[in-house]
Amino acid sequence: MEKYTIRRMLPGDCADILLAIKELAKALKAEEQVVVNEEILLSDGFGENRLFECFVAEYDDAIVGYVLYCTMYSSWVGKKAFMEDLYVKPKHQRHGVGTRLWRTAVKEALKDGCNQMEWGACSWNTSAIEFYKRKGAINITDIEQFHTYRLSYESMHKFVNSGEKMGESDGEGRTHVHST
Ligand SMILES: CC(C)(COP(=O)(O)OP(=O)(O)OC[C@H]1O[C@@H](n2cnc3c(N)ncnc32)[C@H](O)[C@@H]1OP(=O)(O)O)[C@@H](O)C(=O)NCCC(=O)NCCS
Repeated sequence: MEKYTIRRMLPGDCADILLAIKELAKALKAEEQVVVNEEILLSDGFGENRLFECFVAEYDDAIVGYVLYCTMYSSWVGKKAFMEDLYVKPKHQRHGVGTRLWRTAVKEALKDGCNQMEWGACSWNTSAIEFYKRKGAINITDIEQFHTYRLSYESMHKFVNSGEKMGESDGEGRTHVHST
């Protein structure tokens, strides 16, 4: 275990992190959904308005895993963290790296004032789900019948445009609703 180092991501890590992001997406059968590139990771991770936190696991100076999360806001509990990715390259799994990466992210989120951490998992990914559960995670879909929904980029535009066609927006960010 001592051969592995967990540290905060540095700007020079973006290319390796992008590779790992693509590997994880492939493992999740969703490789085609990755549209970020190195420049986006660099500006979103290190720009004036930092959008995410990322820690990497290193072995022999190579990045073998990462955890990426961001903060969001709950009207119920206030600040909370959303873990977008936790990934350890297959050759390095089951050496305690995933646990250390995740624990580092949780510790940092607590330090940052987060009251919860949430993330998604595919129902077929039973080994990851069991790993999470053994660390105390609960499945909020099972317990609260809570499902997560998504508007794709295209659907967001379609939805907004359908309102504009109906003359709802005044172009100043105000929306007028006409009752019939
Ligand atoms: C899920 C994932 C992040 C876990 O990472 P990992 O590095 O294998 O995790 P760990 O080694 O810390 O823990 C895995 C298990 O190995 C055990 N383990 C830890 N060190 C070990 C060692 N030296 N020898 C044998 N087993 C060990 C741990 O006890 C743990 O078992 P537990 O869950 O009963 O505690 C990793 O499997 C992964 O990247 N999977 C593919 C991507 C994925 O599915 N990500 C989640 C998307 S939702």
